[in-house]
Amino acid sequence: GMMKTYDIAALPGDGVGKEVVSSAIEVIGALSDVHGGLAFRFTEFPWNCDYYMEHETMMPPDAMKTLAQFEGVFLGAVGNPAIVPDHVSLWGMLIKIRREFELSINMRPAKKVRGIESPLVNPKSFDLVVVRENSEGEYSEVGGRIHRGADEMAIQNAIFTRKATERAIRFAFELAGKRNKHVTSATKSNGIYHSMPFWDEVFTEVAKEYPDIESRSNHIDALAAFFVTKPYDFDVIVASNLFGDVLTDIGSAIMGSIGIAPSANINLSGKYPSMFEPVHGSAPDIAGKGVANPIGQIWTAKLMLDHFGEEELGRELLTIIEDATEAGIKTPDIGGRSTTAEVTEEICSRIRKKG
Ligand code: NAI
Ligand code: MG
Repeated sequence: GMMKTYDIAALPGDGVGKEVVSSAIEVIGALSDVHGGLAFRFTEFPWNCDYYMEHETMMPPDAMKTLAQFEGVFLGAVGNPAIVPDHVSLWGMLIKIRREFELSINMRPAKKVRGIESPLVNPKSFDLVVVRENSEGEYSEVGGRIHRGADEMAIQNAIFTRKATERAIRFAFELAGKRNKHVTSATKSNGIYHSMPFWDEVFTEVAKEYPDIESRSNHIDALAAFFVTKPYDFDVIVASNLFGDVLTDIGSAIMGSIGIAPSANINLSGKYPSMFEPVHGSAPDIAGKGVANPIGQIWTAKLMLDHFGEEELGRELLTIIEDATEAGIKTPDIGGRSTTAEVTEEICSRIRKKG
């Protein structure tokens, strides 16, 4: 049949990023081997803090143009504070890509993974996704400061446009349609006078277009508490930039390790590629030791599969990840004794067996 090849830019970056990106590429290779008709072509770029030491820039001047030609960007982690200050490395690469490619949605699933202990006493089998508006909201540069000392004043404005609010909410409903058909809106319209009632109105309007999807609103404070007491009560949660930032950190915390948490930064205009990256950083404390957990990066690859409409493959990959953890093939951060290479090989061989 027809062969679909996805062209992906791989940016392993620094530290464990290099170790886990190569793992995930191996896993994707195994998946494409057993499923004819699908291939991923990864083109690797060596941009990181070592590159900076040599070239005095994190990426070459034409980097964004180069990356724009790919269908996706698959990033490991950036940062090596021993040689380059974090604000230089992160702003020179990661944040630059996030901003310039209009990655207006950040999506982070959180799930009780078989074989991995959640810090919660009663996690049941929670399985949720936070959809975070990623382009405006509370993180705006509008406002200012005046005076110094006792009369000092600071004003920080939050920006909520109908366009961005609606597209985030709509994205959440579309996603829920492929999942368990439930959307929760993170609001605070009892306390925030203008923007949150507006958010609620848009949510109600969009919800009407999806009569087969259940919806409700929770105030962010209660919602954050529910993530701890009953995360199994959620499917898709849509949130503003700040609320989503906080919720997603709780989400990865209740999974049991930052080493397994994935994320996707989605471009909705189609003008630029989306970027897929795990939640964790370059973990200098364990880099080079061969014990980094590759699951965050591999799960991130699953989000990339989903994004390209290969959802069946994505589901299969996640099941195999969980089969491996349930069998006890785990890195030390999740209580195991296996190396990065052993976990990768376990997942690859399970893919080959199933295929
Ligand atoms: P970090 O996420 O790199 O590490 C935090 C803790 O989690 C460490 O104890 C680390 O060993 C552990 N950890 C992280 N990933 C793991 C994995 N795959 N397997 C097992 N354990 C893992 O955060 P930290 O230490 O604050 O930052 C280190 C560097 O990474 C800094 O330069 C920072 O700026 C950068 N960073 C980059 C991010 C990105 O590229 N998206 C995100 C967060 C931090
Ligand atoms: Mg955060």
